[in-house]
Amino acid sequence: MDRRAALVEALASRGGPRLPAVEWHETIGSTSDRLKQLARAGAPEWTAVLADRQTGGRGREGRTWQSPAGGLYLSALLRPRAEPVALLPLAAGVAVAEAVAGFGVACELKWPNDVLASGRKLAGILAEASSGGGGVEWVVLGIGVNVALDASTLPAELRDGVTSLRAEGARGADSDAVAVAVLARLAVWYDALREAPSRVAAAWREHAIPWWGSLVEVRSGTALLRGTLAAVDDEGALVIELSGGERRRLVSGEVSRLRPAEP
Ligand code: BTN
Repeated sequence: MDRRAALVEALASRGGPRLPAVEWHETIGSTSDRLKQLARAGAPEWTAVLADRQTGGRGREGRTWQSPAGGLYLSALLRPRAEPVALLPLAAGVAVAEAVAGFGVACELKWPNDVLASGRKLAGILAEASSGGGGVEWVVLGIGVNVALDASTLPAELRDGVTSLRAEGARGADSDAVAVAVLARLAVWYDALREAPSRVAAAWREHAIPWWGSLVEVRSGTALLRGTLAAVDDEGALVIELSGGERRRLVSGEVSRLRPAEP
């Protein structure tokens, strides 16, 4: 059985999503770029594109996602109807956290959806939506997981900030098994998004890196804000309290911690 058929069968046997079409490439530019082409051509929900290497992997905020062998590069097509799309990246973060927990690796989520283990980046999530007819037509959810990545193959400036499932001592984690686990958990949290969205935010908070009360800096577009990390609310926004006591809600950005919470 080829890898695509094995993936479809493994998901079906776990009650996971039925994948109507799957591509699994040895090397591709970007799984998300390929899936966007398929989405525009009308591909159904849960069409998936996977690869063992990417030559043009993209990350959040216009960054490059280094994609050598040893990583899992996966994009899944969703066509949300009643689901609150703003929470989708958080739902995906929870799905990845639970999937890697199944291989014995504990991780923490940094808003909006960085997946960290031992304080280093283990996985990343990029949600890209296309709107039409007054709503969201489709979302391409791109997920990169460092399964057995050899950090020495990365540019020197990235090596210290990256980890992999193998480096964290995962049991039985190859790309195929990780793909099954991630998609299965993603389907569960996608359903939850429709039925009980506040559960998604609550689950995300349970996995969150505990920076509550810390002084943080948030870069959002060209704006830079400093304040105390107050919450991630039920809509998935980051809430920070500025020095004057005013609270601000942010829906995108990059958070870094400047000082831990005062005791
Ligand atoms: C991040 O910056 O943390 C998000 C990284 C997302 C990378 C994944 S790998 C599969 C998919 N294809 C891409 O080009 N990017 C996403």
